[in-house]
Amino acid sequence: MSFALRQADASVAPCAAVNVRSVVPATKLRPALPSTPTLTDSEFSFGAADYDRVRRLIYEHAGISLSDSKQAMVYSRLSRLLRETGHTNFQEYLKWLESGGGSGGVGVGVGVNTSIGTSSSERWQSFVNALTTNLTAFFREEHHFVELETELARRAGKPLRIWCNAASTGEEPYSIAMTMNEALGPNAAVSLLATDIDTNVLSAARRGVYNIGARGLSPERMHRHFLKGKGDNSALMRIKPELARGVEFRAHNLIHAQWNLGDPFDIVFCRNVMIYFDAPTQHGVLERMHRAMKPGGLLFVGHSESFNDAKDLFRLRGKTIYERV
Ligand SMILES: C[S@@+](CC[C@H](N)C(=O)[O-])C[C@H]1O[C@@H](n2cnc3c(N)ncnc32)[C@H](O)[C@@H]1O
Repeated sequence: MSFALRQADASVAPCAAVNVRSVVPATKLRPALPSTPTLTDSEFSFGAADYDRVRRLIYEHAGISLSDSKQAMVYSRLSRLLRETGHTNFQEYLKWLESGGGSGGVGVGVGVNTSIGTSSSERWQSFVNALTTNLTAFFREEHHFVELETELARRAGKPLRIWCNAASTGEEPYSIAMTMNEALGPNAAVSLLATDIDTNVLSAARRGVYNIGARGLSPERMHRHFLKGKGDNSALMRIKPELARGVEFRAHNLIHAQWNLGDPFDIVFCRNVMIYFDAPTQHGVLERMHRAMKPGGLLFVGHSESFNDAKDLFRLRGKTIYERV
């Protein structure tokens, strides 16, 4: 893919094109199936027992709790995997998935090859990748970035460690990187780690290529922080290498008991992922998050997430912003 070594064109009309993968839930791109206990009219029969088995497996491997209403969505996402792996029904596919043993590699960087592999960890990784929902956007919940800028200015001159987990296709960590660059300049002593369980979105995030007009980005920021594609890529832009170099992308599963993430963090973004977890899973993640952060560190959470029952770990500091106790 070739990109011009010039800045993105600030005159491009915002929202001329939208990064479909990143801002539209994948489910919306596929025809909806009626939500029935058994999807017998479909290509593959998908009964209540199959759905319960899928629910148990995704809960065990990613902590994701699927409600009854998600059966058609799950069918739609997994039937693609059945076709790709040559299985003719769900029982056969799920048996094949489980026959390889545990999920050792999910969200720990094994199986980053996104093709449907035959090793056990690759099978599980593809299963998990298919069932995650990756909706995101640049500068989503903009008030967080205003607060982040203030916090960066307050801590200027001190080395800082920031972690953006559930980073999806990269819009969120790159929004943090842009804010850092604007607040502190290019040479600030800030390290930024971005993680997700889904290895497909991590690959997209590392590429750092988005549609021009992607939601949430002002023309000024496009111009300042992106390179515009040339020729066939003229509808695309790529994050500037100097900004991309400042972000380390890594696979990480929030429900794993052991987190090996290095020194404690000053600031953590954990947004719009806890909504997929039940209360005990959320609490386990908050306990590990607490251990992974410095006292007084800031935790940014999603607009519909609140952790008031974990006051011993985090106290509310502002709108959807917590302080590590
Ligand atoms: C809806 S997106 C949120 C993206 C971004 N944080 C935002 O707010 O725009 C949820 C992300 O959480 C990730 N995720 C789901 N379960 C996870 C887990 N157990 N560990 C780490 N990431 C997970 C998904 O892969 C997905 O990319």
